[in-house]
Amino acid sequence: MNDMEWMIENPSGGKRVIVTKKLPGERWIRILAQADCRVEICTSNSILTPEEIKGAIGRKCDGVIGQLTEDWSGELFKILKSAGGKVYSNYAVGYNNVDIDAATKQSIPVGNTPGVLTEATAELAVSLTFAAARRIVEADNFMRAGRYEGWLPTLFLGDLLWRKTVGVIGAGRIGAAYARMMIEGHKMNLLYYSPHPNERLEDFVARYGDFLESQGEEPILCKRSTSMNEVFSEADVVSLHPVLNDTTRHMINEASLSLMKENAILVNSSRGALIDEAALVRHCQKHPDFKAALDVYENEPDMKPGLQDLDNVVMVPHIGSATGWARQGMATLAAANLAGILLGYPVWQRQDVSPFLGDHPPKAAPSIVNFTKLDISIYTED
Ligand code: DGY
Repeated sequence: MNDMEWMIENPSGGKRVIVTKKLPGERWIRILAQADCRVEICTSNSILTPEEIKGAIGRKCDGVIGQLTEDWSGELFKILKSAGGKVYSNYAVGYNNVDIDAATKQSIPVGNTPGVLTEATAELAVSLTFAAARRIVEADNFMRAGRYEGWLPTLFLGDLLWRKTVGVIGAGRIGAAYARMMIEGHKMNLLYYSPHPNERLEDFVARYGDFLESQGEEPILCKRSTSMNEVFSEADVVSLHPVLNDTTRHMINEASLSLMKENAILVNSSRGALIDEAALVRHCQKHPDFKAALDVYENEPDMKPGLQDLDNVVMVPHIGSATGWARQGMATLAAANLAGILLGYPVWQRQDVSPFLGDHPPKAAPSIVNFTKLDISIYTED
């Protein structure tokens, strides 16, 4: 990396902030400039190595916005701390690439960007689900290859999802939004597994069922299962939405795949390592009616051998949150995390982050994951 790959905004700012990738929009730059930050942005598309990040932090650095593709280990947080670093924000809602304990040990608050990418990611998961069910990619390739010779009763038969059962693993914001889209749009019954009940979601499904009945239609069934295996074996679609940690890594493996229906659809828009990808390749090779729809991969950007040769796998390159609105919102929240901590504000920690997208954002850092351990107070004004 050379100097040509960095651009600087607000060069006279008194605090030095580095941003390891160019982010969309302008609002996030204004937020940092208003907090008196000189903003140094890496314009290279290649993923920075820890050595390159160390070099970028240099001798003085007050805060960093980093990427989910970077390994934010204890060593980097030590270096950030010794350069005077006071805050780090991931440009993502997920933070499995960040050693939170190590950051906390260095008293560095770690931010993330929840609440602005929920619908975008859920919509992508829905798109993948139907692309797999209706064999859209195979059919598209068929057209482009000039192989369409006329309508046939058996051409590209897929699966109807209407009134079938959607299984959701992890009913947090994105899982619940996906469940609602599949329920409202396609009247699917819901079977979900989540450490905590999602009462809001259950209440919604109950009321929606009452509405359907009032229209003379069958209601929707909703069950929180206490066993993940029940979801695997009962659902027609299984969509993964848990965080990636030691307890969820490879939750989809040979054993869990063997429980799934012969023609089930497995969707993953969370983190690739939830799935033992080599086991998935073997399963899809043996079961041509089974389908996988993937936005994320175990060792991004690589794919396990064989995955790309499978017609029953639909793949996109980790684009769940890739809408202009969501990505600009993520930039705003990441910048507001840095600005909030650098200005000594409390943390917001409310579900609704929309006030940060308006003209009069709250004087708070929107989302700091280790705020409790660092004893940072919570915003109380209304
Ligand atoms: C995240 O935010 O964690 C996604 O994977 C990228 O938007």
